[in-house]
Amino acid sequence: MDKALIIYWSGTGNTEAMANGIAKGIEAEGKEVQIVSVDAANKDMVKEATHIALGCSAMGAEVLEEDEMEPFVESIEDIDWSNKKLALFGSYDWGDGEWMRNWQERMESCGATLVKDGLAVNLEPEGEELEKCIDLGKALVTA
Ligand SMILES: Cc1cc2nc3c(=O)[nH]c(=O)nc-3n(C[C@H](O)[C@H](O)[C@H](O)COP(=O)(O)O)c2cc1C
Repeated sequence: MDKALIIYWSGTGNTEAMANGIAKGIEAEGKEVQIVSVDAANKDMVKEATHIALGCSAMGAEVLEEDEMEPFVESIEDIDWSNKKLALFGSYDWGDGEWMRNWQERMESCGATLVKDGLAVNLEPEGEELEKCIDLGKALVTA
């Protein structure tokens, strides 16, 4: 693999903190990582990467953020996912993680292989939850 790629949307920084945890895990495995906010990301980045983590908090009513993340995810659905490894992550508050289960199902139906089930963390990742982010980063690049 070249660099692992993390693309995320985060309104108040909780999913961004998860992205930073995932990056820490990737670096702990001696791999390089590029973290990009979705507004600076493009489809070609995803096409070229082999190990990708996508993050977005639960928004609307159990959906992805609709102005930036949803259109971006739509734009990458038709990529050839067969030789890529994917991790999904995001923060939520009052729900039960439905948005993450739906997102995982959606990416799997595009042919993507997830290295672990999508990681949903309640609000800001701390302690054990932050460890789970780090582990997800490790799992992504050792898959
Ligand atoms: C407009 C809006 C809609 C939200 N919708 C949901 C939701 O459907 N389910 C849920 O569990 N949390 C929902 N939340 C809570 C956020 O997912 C939660 O605050 C999360 O930690 C934000 O992470 P972020 O800072 O990375 O954006 C919503 C928050 C906002 C502002």
